[in-house]
Amino acid sequence: MKKIQCFVSKHNKISDIDDRVYGSFIEHMGRAVYTGIYDPDHQSSDEQGFRTDVIDAINDLNVPVVRYPGGNFVSGYDWKDGIGPKVERPTRLDYAWFSIETNQFGINEFADWAKKAGTQGMIAVNLGTGTPQEAGYLAEYCNLQKGTYWSDKRISHGYEQPHNFKVWCLGNEMDGPWQTCAMTADEYAKKARETAKILKWVDPDIELVACGSSSKEMATFPEWDRTVLEICYNEVDFISLHRYYEYEGDKQSFLAAYHDLDDFIGTIKATADYVKAQQRSDKVMMLSLDEWNVWYIKHMDQKRWQWAPPIAEDVYSLMDALVVGGLLTTIVNNADRVKMACLAQLVNALAPIHTDANGGVLKHATYYPFQQVSNYGRGAVYKNTVDCDAIQTEKYGKVAEVATLTTFDEAAGELAFFALNINLDEDIDCHLNISEFGELTMIDRQVMQGADLFAVNSFAEPSNVVPKAETVTEGKATQFQVTLPKATWTMFRFRVQ
Ligand code: AHR
Repeated sequence: MKKIQCFVSKHNKISDIDDRVYGSFIEHMGRAVYTGIYDPDHQSSDEQGFRTDVIDAINDLNVPVVRYPGGNFVSGYDWKDGIGPKVERPTRLDYAWFSIETNQFGINEFADWAKKAGTQGMIAVNLGTGTPQEAGYLAEYCNLQKGTYWSDKRISHGYEQPHNFKVWCLGNEMDGPWQTCAMTADEYAKKARETAKILKWVDPDIELVACGSSSKEMATFPEWDRTVLEICYNEVDFISLHRYYEYEGDKQSFLAAYHDLDDFIGTIKATADYVKAQQRSDKVMMLSLDEWNVWYIKHMDQKRWQWAPPIAEDVYSLMDALVVGGLLTTIVNNADRVKMACLAQLVNALAPIHTDANGGVLKHATYYPFQQVSNYGRGAVYKNTVDCDAIQTEKYGKVAEVATLTTFDEAAGELAFFALNINLDEDIDCHLNISEFGELTMIDRQVMQGADLFAVNSFAEPSNVVPKAETVTEGKATQFQVTLPKATWTMFRFRVQ
């Protein structure tokens, strides 16, 4: 068996982890909202129409922040359509997904739902068809106590207390030709800067995210990011990144996606730091990876002008779960700059949770690595020195065959070690040296593996692809000999004495 060494030094802390890296995303897209989180006719729904079985599944993911209401949807959305008595709300065309939007779920329903789901809202404003003024009104409606037209309007709708949303996105993917009212970097940046000024005047405590490139493949990348930051540097707190991967017939490249994400993050960090230097600024621009996932976008089938049509209801395989695990290692290993990240999305539309409109909830394979890292990858992240081989991939060149992540939660007295072995043929014997953390007891070892990388979960076989608990090394130790089987994702947890 191949042998590798992994050394983790307590003196080599990368950063404390901002819990918001375990965020997710609910967009008015397909069945994410309607028949997803909101379904007044469903047997499990509460008095507000929120599916409690879906909330339970989300609670287990421990998601601290949820981005809403889009995504592409937001660029043609008038938030005012979704407030007030439901019978008076207009039905509109949603230009993003060519769907019918009934507006039965709006910003107030989202605020209530977020409380029940134990999460905070990250609100995107419409900078496509919307104006800076309308974005300001939304902030006033949501965050101002009382005494103005829009804050009093909220009170008249039954919400005495403001929602106090603390993070706001200045539009969505405005570099994309598919976006309603897409623009050039210069046009966007000026609109975003003026909107940012209004939003911070309304509530100085909020944080703002400017749209970065919607992918590395955009012809305008990374010029877009440079231009936007040059114009908005003082007004915003984050630049956003979006990144999706899909299997296109080459397993090795797909499993190496974690490496590509690291490269993307590195380029945006460098671009942001260039602007910081150019502007002689002390401020470090943080990164919000507010859309990431595996997404079979090429297989999308869109029906025109239907209400809550199934869109992008990808059924995720074991291989997709391994890729999601790898992407999580990259996100958390960059926790010094990536302070927010959103798994896109959460329910039904390219999501780990799938609902049957008349039945139950299914957890896809990708649910599990996210659940593990979100629950146990808290505290601080430490640099791993790993001496493994590199594998040749078609898309990304040579990529380390093992991706690892070590987190230490001092308050909980727990250390977690996550590892993805992308070698399709060989198991790897890893000597894990974590002696600087003292004596440790292995309390959990869970592996996701299987002979069939394309295996999926279904309502008939909901536990076909789930992590399996394996025997742990007995006794206290400071170094561990652990096997990372070929094409697997493994989580180890240790109690620190
Ligand atoms: O998450 C699905 C879509 O992907 C979002 O609406 C958009 O921002 C991105 O292109």
